[in-house]
Amino acid sequence: MERENFIIAIDGFSSCGKSTVAKALAKKLQFVFIDSGAMYRAVTLYFLRQHINLTNPDEIRAALEEIHIDFVPQGDTVHIFLNGEDVSREIRQMHVSEKVSEISAIKEVRHALVKQQQALGKRRNIVMDGRDIGTTVFPDADLKIFMTANSEVRAQRRLAELLAKGEVVSIEGVKQNLAHRDHMDSTREESPLRQATDAIILDNSDLTQEEQLEIVLEEYRARMEGR
Ligand code: DC
Repeated sequence: MERENFIIAIDGFSSCGKSTVAKALAKKLQFVFIDSGAMYRAVTLYFLRQHINLTNPDEIRAALEEIHIDFVPQGDTVHIFLNGEDVSREIRQMHVSEKVSEISAIKEVRHALVKQQQALGKRRNIVMDGRDIGTTVFPDADLKIFMTANSEVRAQRRLAELLAKGEVVSIEGVKQNLAHRDHMDSTREESPLRQATDAIILDNSDLTQEEQLEIVLEEYRARMEGR
C-alpha cells in the first residue's frame, strides 16, 4: 500500500525554478503542491496594506491572527487566497518582492507560517517548495532537493516571468532584487536558507524542465523501492 505522507522538500535560492519542478512533480505523482513562498508573500501583502509596524511584535502577532491563507486548485493551477480574496497575481508584483525577505525574517511570522506548513503536510503526500522546508519545516522529509542555477540564468528567467505579466522592470532591477533576497534569506537568524546535509543538489542552469523532473523522479523511485 502506498504511504500517505510522503514529503518532498524542494529548497533553494530565489528564481531557481523550484516551483516549476515542484508543480510538475506534484502533477506527475498526484501529490499536493504547496508553495511556501506564496504564504510569505501573502503575509507581506497584508502587512503592506495594513501598514503594520514591523518593529512592534504585539502588532505583528495581532496581525498574524487576522490572516487566513487558503490554496484553491483551479484547473491546472493553484490559486492563493488571503482572507477570501484571490491574491495570486498581486503577491508576485515587485512591491511585494521588495519587502518579502524583510517580513519573512521576522520571528513571529516564521513561527506562525512554519506551524501552518507542518499542518498542511499531515496525512497526505505533498511537494513543498521554499527555503527552509528540508531543514526546519520537515527535517524528516522523505526526499530533499536543493536547487541552484547560475545568477545570470536566474535573472533572465525572472525577468521573462515579470515581463510576461506586464510589469515594467529592468534586468538590473531584477538582479538587484534577487541578490538582496538571497542575502537576506541566507543570513537571517530564524531558519535561514541552507542546504540540508541530506539534500540532493540539483543545478539546473543547463537542464531542461523534463530533465530536471526525470532526475527528481529517479530519486523518488529509488526511495520508494528502498521501503
Ligand atoms: O519562493 P519565493 O521567491 O516566492 O519566496 C518569497 C520570499 O519568501 C523569499 O525571498 C524568502 C521567503 N521564504 C522564506 O523565507 N521561507 C520559505 N520557506 C519560502 C519563502
